[in-house]
Amino acid sequence: MPAIGSIQLPEFPLLLAPMEDVSDPPFRAVCKDNGADLMYSEFISSEGLIRDAIKSKKKLDFTEEERPFGIQIFGGDEEAMAMSARICETVNPDLVDINFGCPVKKVVSKGAGAGVLKDIDLMVRLTEAVIKSTKLPVTIKTRLGWDDNTKNIEEVAQRMQDIGVQAISIHGRTRAQLYKGEADWTLIGKVKNNPRITIPVFGNGDIDSPQKAKAYKEKYGIDGIMIGRAAIGYPWIFREIKHFLNTGEILPAPTLEERVAVCKKHLDRSIDWKGPIVGINEMRRHYTNYLKGLPGIKDFRMKLVTLTTPEAINEVLDEISEHYKNYSFERTPIELIDYHQNCPL
Ligand SMILES: Cc1cc2nc3c(=O)[nH]c(=O)nc-3n(C[C@H](O)[C@H](O)[C@H](O)COP(=O)(O)O)c2cc1C
Repeated sequence: MPAIGSIQLPEFPLLLAPMEDVSDPPFRAVCKDNGADLMYSEFISSEGLIRDAIKSKKKLDFTEEERPFGIQIFGGDEEAMAMSARICETVNPDLVDINFGCPVKKVVSKGAGAGVLKDIDLMVRLTEAVIKSTKLPVTIKTRLGWDDNTKNIEEVAQRMQDIGVQAISIHGRTRAQLYKGEADWTLIGKVKNNPRITIPVFGNGDIDSPQKAKAYKEKYGIDGIMIGRAAIGYPWIFREIKHFLNTGEILPAPTLEERVAVCKKHLDRSIDWKGPIVGINEMRRHYTNYLKGLPGIKDFRMKLVTLTTPEAINEVLDEISEHYKNYSFERTPIELIDYHQNCPL
């Protein structure tokens, strides 16, 4: 069974990917309920943490029920990364993860995120600085390389393991690809099957169904799978994959009761964590996904996204339960959105 330092994970762990503006505590709560085995914060700027920026500090929040839990940091300066790892340690997460995969220009131009894939020595120095500054296990999340000509993940994995990184998650795309094309897991499989690599290797990219998860598990031999976009609006993906791996059966689509219950819990946690105004506001983008597939849901949805009190929203959710009580859901394929479609390279 894979372990990260002293964190023992189940046999084939499913990880919730760190996602800026998505993987916050309310969303993580519903993913945990549905079987996510290891979860991460949104990425946090090391400079922001040091400056004590409110937004960065807020991202350190997590609850005991979320464990094992990792905080992800990014940055291009060794001292800032070391200091921010020490700040992370004060809130006692289970591990610190370093983001070496973010492709956006304002991050890579500072030598952070996927920017380091052009300079592995810098990547090593940044990682060593973090490892030396904390007693927590340090993991990394990265991509295959900078572009098609520099797919250096095999070298990266070895050098990271040599300096003490305790697990690696690999998104099967290069920085230049952003989200284009299909994630290529061939190199992820090569890293995993390199006899020198003994740390857990988690595969990431485009997993959106139990069948694909099983096929990739078998084909590439990875230690676990990290799931990002497929979980957005569909936290049930974790339990579906687990059930399929354990039994070979596809679970029926989540019921209306489950969908409404997830909406209510997510809303409740959002309000707890962000306060009523922001909590209610930010929850508005989630209803469409959670209630996808219900015929004629538009009018209800309009109410959900305009109401301003939890009582009124919960009442509409109860009306939805009543209105659709005899409706049986089909599992509709999950659509993986290209989030960086308009991202300047
Ligand atoms: C909205 C969004 C925000 C993301 N933010 C982060 C982040 O903060 N840190 C990180 O390492 N990756 C981030 N990613 C990348 C995901 O963790 C993941 O590597 C990528 O989406 C591929 O996995 P998927 O095909 O399962 O979505 C983000 C992705 C999305 C869609």
